[in-house]
Amino acid sequence: MDFKSYIRDVPDFPKQGILFKDITPLLQDYKALTSAADALIENLKKGSIDKVVGMESRGFIFGPMLADRLEAGFVPVRKPGKLPYKTLRETYDLEYAKDTLEIHVDGISKGDRVLIHDDVLATGGTALATTKLVEKLGAIIVQCNFLVELSFLNGREKIKPLEVKSLITY
Ligand code: PRP
Ligand code: MG
Repeated sequence: MDFKSYIRDVPDFPKQGILFKDITPLLQDYKALTSAADALIENLKKGSIDKVVGMESRGFIFGPMLADRLEAGFVPVRKPGKLPYKTLRETYDLEYAKDTLEIHVDGISKGDRVLIHDDVLATGGTALATTKLVEKLGAIIVQCNFLVELSFLNGREKIKPLEVKSLITY
């Protein structure tokens, strides 16, 4: 399936000069939605993943769909102050600021085989912070996958040597 044809370019969103890659046309179409979820886990066997970790908020769209297909649990990584129980935190750099992500300390058990999923890999800051969180909890990261990769921002380099898969590359 030509997934790229379901991505809409929105100029000047969220601010002037940014060309936003809008995935909602793909989500709205059942065939595109289900085929994209299938394609994201194509090379992963059912039972080979214990937990799918998805990052707030757009990693929550496909994350649970992939977990269901893989017969794995889903673990949310959230923006600060959102998770109610004991958390581990990781602070990372944005272009002009810092951001923090959190995970529940009991979300991952030592030795869990983890698939990390997010909608977009851009600079890799979000993905790197997430890999640090799950590694600190003793997980084995099997793969990081993304619907869209903005390859000119070199996010893949940041999370080397982890296996990275993306369905659509710009
Ligand atoms: C976007 C996107 C990824 C992240 C990628 O999320 O959904 O999570 O940016 O960027 P990076 O590779 O440079 O870290 P955003 O923080 O805009 O929040 P949202 O998912 O809640 O919309
Ligand atoms: Mg996001």
